[in-house]
Amino acid sequence: MDKLAIEGGVALKGEVSISGAKNAALPILCAALLTPEPLTLDNLPQLNDVRTMRSLLSQMGVRAEAHNGALTLSAKQVDWPLAPYEMVKTMRASILALGPLLARCGEARVSLPGGCAIGLRPVDQHIKGLQAMGAEIDLDHGYIDAKATRLIGARFVFDVITVTGTENLMMAATLASGTTVLENAAREPEIVDLADCLIAMGARITGAGSDRIVIEGVATLHGARHAIMPDRIETGTFLAAALAAGGDVSLAAVRPDTLEAVIDKLVEAGADIVTEPTRIRIRREPGPGSLKSVALRTMPYPGFPTDMQAQLMAPMTVADDTAVITETIFENRMMHVQELKRLGADIEVEGNTAIVKGVRALTGATVMATDLRASACLVIAGLIAEGETVIDRIYHLDRGYERIEEKLSALGARIRRVA
Ligand code: EPU
Repeated sequence: MDKLAIEGGVALKGEVSISGAKNAALPILCAALLTPEPLTLDNLPQLNDVRTMRSLLSQMGVRAEAHNGALTLSAKQVDWPLAPYEMVKTMRASILALGPLLARCGEARVSLPGGCAIGLRPVDQHIKGLQAMGAEIDLDHGYIDAKATRLIGARFVFDVITVTGTENLMMAATLASGTTVLENAAREPEIVDLADCLIAMGARITGAGSDRIVIEGVATLHGARHAIMPDRIETGTFLAAALAAGGDVSLAAVRPDTLEAVIDKLVEAGADIVTEPTRIRIRREPGPGSLKSVALRTMPYPGFPTDMQAQLMAPMTVADDTAVITETIFENRMMHVQELKRLGADIEVEGNTAIVKGVRALTGATVMATDLRASACLVIAGLIAEGETVIDRIYHLDRGYERIEEKLSALGARIRRVA
């Protein structure tokens, strides 16, 4: 199993390009199921989760062809409207195939994802929403069995704000008869990116990015070409790394407009940030007192993203005072705390709040990655710890970050992959 070894204490300097967004790519790959015509995607990130989704689609009969950096998917026919347990257990986002399969094939069998490291994560809203659109759903031996000759447009109010739930229902509704109105919908930029792709395929959608999305069903969708939006969480992770290590870093191919809550917190924490429409420059002079402790609370978009909570905690471990970090989206997303403590951090967890008292320095040690964003937090902690930090189980990191050690090395970090 690969590990990462990091020698901390180097300020970061230089420029890196940010990849396409994992959490936009995964639903958009599933959108290919909605049409027999080819869907060509640009800026698809090279990630293990993207490979897993491609292999799931391929099992269903979707052809994929790579050419000049783009990928064309053709779901001329869907042979197998099935997402088996073996796939869903490695990647929960496989649930995103449910809506498109049901809309296109009139049936789908998708394994229930079950809990995962960061929380219970039920999919009841996905199921309730499809039932509201007329689907017959049975839960059978851990599988969702869904049937609908044709889905019927409906008004559905989400009980909880869910990103993939909103995406699943929005995709399903594109081929329904009549109009679907999704209320209390998630507003994440990835939902807007998916809607843009669906609209290019002929879908009639308004309101994506607000909490009320209206989808007028059409009989068929057609082929299209779409470029995946930049990954705002990868962007935020590099910003948090630069805040922590200090230095002067420019990020290219980004969308600063999708990161306002994160940028505000970084500025409060002592970063000097300049944004242009597709670039961000972050500077912080390393030195005592220049890193400020902040309070933050994760919220659905446009609030501070849960997917950035762990990465921001890393610099807070050596900030000037006490940071208070509250996680409100997932019930078990503080697993990085015990690993940060191994590096010498002073953190107490009370309920879903971490109280992080800044210490003078972290010291390198061997730590274990427990989930994707917790791993990114440990990488950042390794960049500031004195001596060597070794991060075990980095397969979590490879699910969602493209060549992270190469990109950090290009900024001067002393980081290497150990087989
Ligand atoms: N929830 C329910 N019922 C549902 C669906 C969700 O109770 O039917 C609850 C969840 O248990 C959770 C909350 O609602 O407490 C929000 O979950 P959501 O459904 O929004 O999460 P998700 O769609 O499964 C996506 C991202 C996650 C990200 C969350 C929150 C993808 C593929 N995944 O997950 O990304 O943390 O939204 O923003 O888009 C990551 O990239 O590291 C990651 C975990």
